[in-house]
Amino acid sequence: MSDESPLIRSLRAAVAAAPDDVPLRLHLAELLLQAGRNDEAVTEAAVALQHAPGDADARALMGRAMGLPPAPPAPAAPPAPASGDPGLPGPPPPAQDPRTRTDFDWAAAEQEVGDIVPPRFVDGTEAPLTADGLGDDPGDADAWDVDAPGAVRLADVGGMQEVKDRLEAAFLAPMRNPELRKLYGKSLRGGLLLYGPPGCGKTFIARAVAGELGAGFLSISLSDILDMYIGASEKNVHDIFETARAQAPCVVFLDELDALGAKRSRSHHSGLRNVVNQLLTELDGIAADSNDGVFVLAATNVPWDVDIALRRPGRLDRTLLVLPPDAAARDAILRYHLRDRPIEAVDLGKLVKATEDFSGADLAHVCETAAEAALLDSARTGTVRMINMKDLLGAAGQIRPSTDPWFSAARNVATFANDGGMYDDLLAYLKRKRKL
Ligand SMILES: Nc1ncnc2c1ncn2[C@@H]1O[C@H](COP(=O)(O)OP(=O)(O)OP(=O)(O)O)[C@@H](O)[C@H]1O
Ligand SMILES: [Mg+2]
Repeated sequence: MSDESPLIRSLRAAVAAAPDDVPLRLHLAELLLQAGRNDEAVTEAAVALQHAPGDADARALMGRAMGLPPAPPAPAAPPAPASGDPGLPGPPPPAQDPRTRTDFDWAAAEQEVGDIVPPRFVDGTEAPLTADGLGDDPGDADAWDVDAPGAVRLADVGGMQEVKDRLEAAFLAPMRNPELRKLYGKSLRGGLLLYGPPGCGKTFIARAVAGELGAGFLSISLSDILDMYIGASEKNVHDIFETARAQAPCVVFLDELDALGAKRSRSHHSGLRNVVNQLLTELDGIAADSNDGVFVLAATNVPWDVDIALRRPGRLDRTLLVLPPDAAARDAILRYHLRDRPIEAVDLGKLVKATEDFSGADLAHVCETAAEAALLDSARTGTVRMINMKDLLGAAGQIRPSTDPWFSAARNVATFANDGGMYDDLLAYLKRKRKL
């Protein structure tokens, strides 16, 4: 952004100061478009449309920025403006846009829309959500990369007040405060195990915890460690903790902790035993020197498969249940996924109600499916139209909450194997939801 013209820069500042001044924003979008920065122009036009749904200028600009044909000399019928809104898309722009086409290039348009939206929308998988520094895949690293103290804070986690309160009391407050740590000594040692259904924010929250502590973040997927050549696994575990110590303060996040549990009987894999032992050594080492600024968080979808030795006092002895996002969290997640998309008249409250039990990943999928529907429609009619409530509710209706199967399995365990009250939180939730 250093090559930005002074005019664009000051317009940007002006827009930031008056975010709902639509003409001002469109002016900025126009300049961006002229500078060939179509993606940013699309973004600004989309935001303008959120403030002024149906604004003809904004739509026209959006159409041009997306490289759609203006008034199509297109094969079929002239575009019937979507919702009775006149003048869409506007007259041909000063044909500066090299991408002006004579017919609709759906793939290219999709790609452009794709560009303004972070890669988390790609293909419905829930994995790589890197826009805000979430969930990069740690596995393929051959050296252990510590992410610098990140931008994600607990405030970025929508809703989930209970989880936040417990994190604050059980983990953050004491960890932040070395005096307290000394005072309470041993009782504060050990890490925290996050568990719950897939896609509900465990990784996200772990990262936010690192952000709160101003610590680096070293995320390790245990199944990846185990996949590496046999015999090297223990050394890897040791190296990981060495790296973390060298870069303290640092949160070591052990994802898929269950990969190690593997019901010892199930695996005669002696290598596995060694990895567990090494991990125990490291955890105990951290407990012995509570000042070394290495914090351990772990996560699993299947806590009942976690090796019990790892759960002994002083190790990963505290658990925190991370449930599907509550209404406030769904609101935040949906807002996040829609923020750069061209939407129109979206009643978020209604959508929040229609997505009960959906995971964060499911919600991302809803937004993506709705966008696809609108894009397809635009392609078919040759008329850009915004994503509307119908698209979103339609998408929500098609998707089953992916958390259902998890709760079915968890219910049995919580009912019949609630040793030491480990699953009390889960049972309370199931009762509250009448799922018991
Ligand atoms: N409370 C929340 N506020 C904002 N975004 C959230 C929240 N919960 C989840 N998300 C979003 O949902 C996405 C999925 O969450 P995440 O990957 O952390 O789930 P997970 O529990 O680690 O899943 P898995 O078990 O599959 O590893 C996150 O990237 C995040 O964008
Ligand atoms: Mg995860």
